[in-house]
Amino acid sequence: MKRTLILTALIAFVGAAVTVDESQARRIKNKLVKSECGECHMAFQPSFLPAESWRIIMDDLENHFGDDASVDEKDAVAITNYLVKHAGRKRRRKKGQPPLRITKLRWFVREHNHEVSRRAKRRAGTMSNCTACHRGADKGYYDDD
Ligand code: HEC
Ligand code: HEC
Repeated sequence: MKRTLILTALIAFVGAAVTVDESQARRIKNKLVKSECGECHMAFQPSFLPAESWRIIMDDLENHFGDDASVDEKDAVAITNYLVKHAGRKRRRKKGQPPLRITKLRWFVREHNHEVSRRAKRRAGTMSNCTACHRGADKGYYDDD
C-alpha cells in the first residue's frame, strides 16, 4: 500500500516535471543577448526554439529574415552559447529543416489562431511582435491577457 503511494507520487512528480509550460519562459539574463538580439525586436527567450535552430540562425546573421543582424565573431560565439544552453527541447516533428521561426511552430499557430482577434493582429503588425500583445513578454510572461 505504502509502496503504491510512493510510486504514484513519483509518477505524478515526473509527469509534472516533463510538462512544458509555455505560459512562462525563463527571463534572459545575458546582457549581450538582450542588447544585440533585442535591438530590432524583443529578444526571444531561447526556450522557444531547440538548440539546432539557434545554431542555424546564429550562423547566418547577415541574412536574417531580410535584415543584416551580424555581430562580431566573439559576441556571436557568446550569444550562441547562451541560446544553445537555454534552448528548448526538440519537439517531435517530421525530418527536415529545424524551425527558424517561433511563430511558425505548431503550438504557436494553434494558440494564436482562434484566440487572437484580427484587430490585435493588425495592431501588432507582425506575430513576432510579442510585446504588442503580451506586456510581460520580454520578462518571460505570456499569460497576462
Ligand atoms: C537588424 C535587426 C535585427 C537584429 C539585430 C536581430 N533581428 Fe531577429 N529578426 C529581425 C527581423 C526583421 C525579423 C523578422 C520579423 C518578422 O517577420 O516579423 C526577425 C526575426 C527573428 C526570429 C523569428 C521570429 C518569429 O517569427 O518567430 C528569431 C528567432 C530571431 N529574429 C532571432 C534573433 C536573434 C537570436 C538575434 C540576435 C543575434 C536577432 N534576432 C537580432 C531583425 C533583427
Ligand atoms: C496579436 C497579439 C499577439 C501576438 C503578437 C503574440 N501573441 Fe501570444 N497570445 C496572444 C493571445 C490572445 C493568446 C491567448 C490568450 C492567452 O493565453 O494569453 C496568446 C497565447 C500565447 C501563449 C500561451 C500562453 C498561455 O497562457 O498558455 C504563449 C506562450 C505566447 N502567446 C507566446 C507568444 C510569443 C513568444 C509571441 C511572439 C513571438 C507572441 N505570443 C505573440 C496574443 C498574441
